[in-house]
Amino acid sequence: MQRFLVTGGAGFIGSNYIRHLLQKYHDISIINFDKLTYAGNLDNLRDVENNPRHRFVQGDICDAMLVDQYMAGIDAVVNFAAESHVDRSIGAPDAFIRTDVFGAFLLLEAARWHRVKKFIQISTDEVYGSIEQGAFRETAALMPSSPYSASKAGADRLAYSYFVTYGLPVIITRGSNNFGPYQYPEKLIPLFVTNALEDKPLPIYGDGKNVRDWIYVEDHCDAIDFLLAHGKDGEVYNIGGGNEHNNLEITEMILAALNKPKNLMTFVNDRLGHDRRYSLDTSKLAALGWKPKHDFKTALEFTIGWYAQNRWWWEKLKSGEYLEFYKKNYKMAL
Ligand code: NAD
Ligand code: DAU
Repeated sequence: MQRFLVTGGAGFIGSNYIRHLLQKYHDISIINFDKLTYAGNLDNLRDVENNPRHRFVQGDICDAMLVDQYMAGIDAVVNFAAESHVDRSIGAPDAFIRTDVFGAFLLLEAARWHRVKKFIQISTDEVYGSIEQGAFRETAALMPSSPYSASKAGADRLAYSYFVTYGLPVIITRGSNNFGPYQYPEKLIPLFVTNALEDKPLPIYGDGKNVRDWIYVEDHCDAIDFLLAHGKDGEVYNIGGGNEHNNLEITEMILAALNKPKNLMTFVNDRLGHDRRYSLDTSKLAALGWKPKHDFKTALEFTIGWYAQNRWWWEKLKSGEYLEFYKKNYKMAL
């Protein structure tokens, strides 16, 4: 029985990853260690809450004693726990440096002392910064441009240092923009789908021509699992979907799928330091034999349908603090 410690498993990707592992393997057990910040939500795990191979623990990765306690006996750590929203990092970077850097450090330390057999650090394509043309390989220089991506770059390189210095079997993944069910409705796709469902404006930053490479969350989870088995320790792997679209294109696809009018599109102030384009060269992962399985348009339509059918999940999240945040930053009448 392989024992996993999944941190941030009550968030968007972490909860999808836990579901992926439980469906695929019957000989594993998972401790899901999550602080339950605004982004952590046990509703994301309702269908697996009674699964005896999954145990939820509410805890902060910045709590060294607790991290040490739950690291004992663990075979593999997958660190998803992070503050993850760029806009929030611009408004209040503190929590990003604390969790994304210091929390990752405490996990690496505990993993080293407990001789964990594999440590996957979930990093991001944002650590490379923006690229106008071409695509980043894993060897490219890191030029993060927001407090979020700078914090993630810190953890990314710290994880690497634990491989080089202490021989901890670390693998670092740099994923592109995920979409799918259970994504907190502050990120582009769930925000725009749920706003459109409520006939509210869709706030497009700047000219809407910023490009992201979109990957369906299930493909991202599958790639992480593949790398657990086939990745080489000390290596970095880009995980991309190969679906580059600008924000206007994504917005138009959402409105068309929901049969909503284009006049919901509303141009607002640009994000500070807004990266123009992300693009990954994924040939290193492809050479190992992995590629995404989901067609972008089909997965996007499924995702839009999921939000349309699961209002119970997101309606309560779109209130109070969340609305205040957007009104303050983008002067929107949401
Ligand atoms: P999310 O914000 O939905 O979830 C983050 C989870 O971490 C939440 O459940 C939260 O409660 C938990 N958490 C936050 N601080 C914590 C702490 N101090 N201790 C314990 N738990 C804590 O984020 P997500 O979109 O699921 O992203 C997960 C990871 O993947 C992050 O590391 C992120 O940087 C990375 N990533 C995300 C994307 C994307 O497109 N969403 C792409 C590439 C990489
Ligand atoms: O690239 C991977 C990263 O993708 C992850 O590391 C981050 O955790 C994740 O949040 C995501 O970051 P982005 O900043 O790319 O995602 P977001 O959904 O916030 O924005 C996507 C694009 O849409 C970006 O160009 C900004 C724009 N946008 C976003 C929001 C929320 C808007 O135009 N309007 C909006 O209201």
